[in-house]
Amino acid sequence: MSAQVINGKEITGAYRAQIKEDVAKLAQQGVQPGLAVIIVGEDPASQVYVRNKAKACEEAGMYSEVHRLEAGVSEKEVLALIEKLNQSPKIHGILVQSPLPKHISEDKVVEAIAVEKDADCFHPVNVGNLMIGKEGPAPCTPAGVIAILKHIGVELAGKHAVVIGRSNIVGKPMAILLLREHATVTICHSKTANMAEITSQADILIAAVGKPRMIRKEHVKPGAIVIDVGINRLDTGKLAGDVDFDDVLDTASYITPVPGCVGPMTITILLKNTLDAASRSLK
Ligand code: GUN
Repeated sequence: MSAQVINGKEITGAYRAQIKEDVAKLAQQGVQPGLAVIIVGEDPASQVYVRNKAKACEEAGMYSEVHRLEAGVSEKEVLALIEKLNQSPKIHGILVQSPLPKHISEDKVVEAIAVEKDADCFHPVNVGNLMIGKEGPAPCTPAGVIAILKHIGVELAGKHAVVIGRSNIVGKPMAILLLREHATVTICHSKTANMAEITSQADILIAAVGKPRMIRKEHVKPGAIVIDVGINRLDTGKLAGDVDFDDVLDTASYITPVPGCVGPMTITILLKNTLDAASRSLK
């Protein structure tokens, strides 16, 4: 039996319609949620992501501003801009697009963002709050994955979820959110021995490795739900996930397409974080 391909458009459409409604309600109380995005340099993939984020804000009725800085900008100038945005009443969420040029410290930049305006959930205080289950922004990609799993109606409690990848942006927070849903969680990474032996025990397999089409049917238990977080540009210019979609299609029960599912859902959570931060600013 062929896996059901998860319809990203349907899921993001439903979420964004709700966000748009909530934005309109907040506007009636005199607050328009605002997101500021800072991009440094000309990385083509980052340019696309940033454009998509700004467009999504506009479609949801939110305010957004994009600050495009030259690759040679000093760290001090970036920090000064963040401080200005921290003080701006129009801005409730701030995001600095990664990667940054080598002369700018990602840590310093992330720590300069006001904790309550951290739209990515990258600030160490918010990461700590996430760990102990306190209120705060959601890590965008992992929270998007949870939303996708809930949408297809999977009961996560007691399931074995295997996350491949241990990045601070995806793998680690993904494991925390799955634990919060009472899944049994295993994290695999580049040094894991016998990877296929472990991943093929997963009821839910989440690939966030950054290696095109690395996950094949020998990694997947028959009937497993496969979520592909990877987005890799091939030499041909085409995009491919971390999962070999065609190879896995007849083994999985559900599978996400790349592009068009986890990516748009990540942006949806970014909108939600900005909306929630704006709501909290009223309290
Ligand atoms: N670069 C790639 N993904 C992300 C993300 O989720 N947030 C930021 N700030 N930069 C990124």
